[in-house]
Amino acid sequence: MGCIIGLDVGGTFIKGLVLKDGKAVYERDVPTRAGDELADCIEGLVEELAAGGGVTFSQIDGVGVCCPGVITDEGAVVKAANLGLTNYPLGALLAGKLGLPVKVCNDANAAALGEAKYGAGAGVKDSILITLGTGVGGGIVIDGKLFEGNKKAGAEIGHMVIERGGVRCSCGRYGCFEAYCSARALTQSTREAMKYDTGSAMWKTYNYDTADGRTAFEYMDSDPAAKKVVDKYLKYLACGVANLANIFRPQKILIGGGVAAQGTRLTKPLQTLVDAEIFAADYAPVEIACASLGNRAGAYGAAALFIDGGE
Ligand code: BGC
Repeated sequence: MGCIIGLDVGGTFIKGLVLKDGKAVYERDVPTRAGDELADCIEGLVEELAAGGGVTFSQIDGVGVCCPGVITDEGAVVKAANLGLTNYPLGALLAGKLGLPVKVCNDANAAALGEAKYGAGAGVKDSILITLGTGVGGGIVIDGKLFEGNKKAGAEIGHMVIERGGVRCSCGRYGCFEAYCSARALTQSTREAMKYDTGSAMWKTYNYDTADGRTAFEYMDSDPAAKKVVDKYLKYLACGVANLANIFRPQKILIGGGVAAQGTRLTKPLQTLVDAEIFAADYAPVEIACASLGNRAGAYGAAALFIDGGE
């Protein structure tokens, strides 16, 4: 019986799983080595996954990889600012190294596909998945189908401007959704808040280098400085989510990526803010929930590229 390997290349970790009969039988993550070493790093992980999952290469039907950025049909990464890649032939390099069929697609599109097939998007026709990780990604499912746009270069929702002339994004534009709502942006604003407020309770457990995207949420109930960071983060997140809700009006907007680990501490206040902002919220409500496959959604979606052509 054949199986599929699904991989999700993130800015910090590459998450992998071995999928057999639609079920993950083995999972493993390794730190990302970005730039030119990426293909070697993935090759090593595939070998570890095969060994851990108890399968030989001849039993693997294919390796589905999802990765930030715009990806060509041949699996080349046209541009992925957070991985430092431009025109990197990832699919061809991997197929050469592994001797297996390889398919590559955008990480957030894969996660949206994974959720629509196996997760929280399964019951509805229209859903949007927003990943809040090193970057901010998006996958839009309309009528049960992934909408990818011209040359599959959409949906780069992280590069939608929510603050004209605001903070510079890794893409070069100013004021992008990603520059305010990625886990990296949240980490940055938490550290700045700590620097500004030396009496903040966050200093009890963290210092400037160890504070991360979880810190402000952890202290939000006991420390005004942390609460301020979370409120500001939610305000910007609600702006981007409401924009998407107004344009596409899906039944569900799902939140994935590292920040989604906050669960209802994130989605509950976000739902209230979005309901207050969107057009005709009572008539056509939009439910906000966490992606149910958690940070595995992308890896599932990447593996699904080998099931029914990924459609
Ligand atoms: C990239 C997207 C990606 C997202 C999440 C953004 O910076 O442009 O392609 O989906 O990060 O990784």
